[in-house]
Amino acid sequence: MTNSGEPIKVALLGCGTVGTEVVRLLREQADDLTARIGAPVELVGIAVRRPHKHTDVPAELLTTDAAALVAGEADVIVEVIGGIDPARGLLTSALREGKAVVTANKALLAEHGGELFAAADASGADLYFEAAVAGAIPLLRPLRESLAGDRITRVMGIVNGTTNYILSAMDATGSGYGETLEEASRLGYAEADPTADVDGFDAAAKAAILASLSFHTRVTASDVYREGIASVTASDIAAASLLGRTVKLLAICERVLGEDGTESVSVRVHPAMIPRTHQLASVNGAFNAVYVEAEAAGQLMFYGPGAGGAPTASAVLGDLVAVARNKVLGGRGPRESAYADLPVRPMGETLTAYHISLDVDDQPGVLTQVAAMFAEHGVSIAAVRQEGREGESKAASLVVVTHMAPDEALRSTVDKIAGLPIVREVAAVMRVEGEQL
Ligand code: NDP
Ligand code: HSE
Repeated sequence: MTNSGEPIKVALLGCGTVGTEVVRLLREQADDLTARIGAPVELVGIAVRRPHKHTDVPAELLTTDAAALVAGEADVIVEVIGGIDPARGLLTSALREGKAVVTANKALLAEHGGELFAAADASGADLYFEAAVAGAIPLLRPLRESLAGDRITRVMGIVNGTTNYILSAMDATGSGYGETLEEASRLGYAEADPTADVDGFDAAAKAAILASLSFHTRVTASDVYREGIASVTASDIAAASLLGRTVKLLAICERVLGEDGTESVSVRVHPAMIPRTHQLASVNGAFNAVYVEAEAAGQLMFYGPGAGGAPTASAVLGDLVAVARNKVLGGRGPRESAYADLPVRPMGETLTAYHISLDVDDQPGVLTQVAAMFAEHGVSIAAVRQEGREGESKAASLVVVTHMAPDEALRSTVDKIAGLPIVREVAAVMRVEGEQL
């Protein structure tokens, strides 16, 4: 325990988009932070790869030897390097030595969270990671603390700013995917390797963290069903628009009660069509929004900036104040809670609903053949819309929206329909969320 008034020594690992803003806030808010914590915060070192690039921070604080910085005098390690290595080894050593860790590293937590929590428990150290999910939005603390007395049943939302930025632009202006991704990277939203955003790895890591905290079960990134936005085309967006929907990349974590009364969890990330009237449809740019449903609390919605240097640094600083207060007062934050240990349900068994747009021959019996495929797989149709295709003789567009069915049954149905001779092209297939189907 640090006596009141004695500085809390902080080592910063990484000084890129987020780290630069952490340094700025530490500097600009030094007096307020001292008052809030009960002790001053002293930045004792900053580990980077290329010190010559960091002309805006005091040169004497910079080092390329992150391991030595972690092993040194710091009480708190703030990690904003990202990725698995070297962050994994650095944070495990820090926690084993009883140093508090604040990290924004969702990839590491989703893959090796168990190892980090075990190291924290061994020494009684704090491990805080509010910035790892949904940028500035206070979301993990409500899940870990405020809702700890309730039973969470579902978490659904937009948790990746980069892909939301891209999808919003595609929907609003029809702008291209590549140019919008470049813009998102320039604005500091994208990961160092933006395929982590586009292919859904970043959202899947966040979904794993959300599911772990919500369902008191250790869920790793590899447990999460994942599809990114790389395959979302202008024609998908147009198909959605035609029926008053838009496309969003959603993370969905559900507690599922089986017919035999046993519980499991379903965790998935994929693009989905949602009604334009749904609140998530108006979440644009790099903003994130997450619905949390709990038995007693009902439905809660969390909304705000989901990416970017300053918003993320706000969440990092919040955690830094929390762990520093614990050091000053001699307490400890929440530990890992994984006692429920629920199994993860395969995606094929998860109930979803599909939107399917087909280009078909315009001839008698087409609808019957398509409908027969759904019936064969036990999938019920919620709505059908057919229109002749302008300029194409004997061609029609057929849009089918299904009721909820096991995802595997829906996928098999689409495969079979694609093979029907009367089907010229499967123009768009996407899951539908946010409405009663
Ligand atoms: P950047 O790529 O901008 O910054 C990474 C920093 O880490 C750089 O300063 C880099 O040094 C340093 N670094 C890389 N490798 C090493 C190493 N081996 N030893 C020491 N330093 C190293 O990343 P961001 O700031 O965007 O992201 C940091 C973390 O925050 C990631 O985990 C990310 O997922 C997470 N995050 C990011 C958000 C965002 O909007 N950007 C939002 C929420 C979370 P150098 O500058 O010298 O190359
Ligand atoms: N690359 C991430 C995103 C940063 O776009 O959401 C925030 O975690």
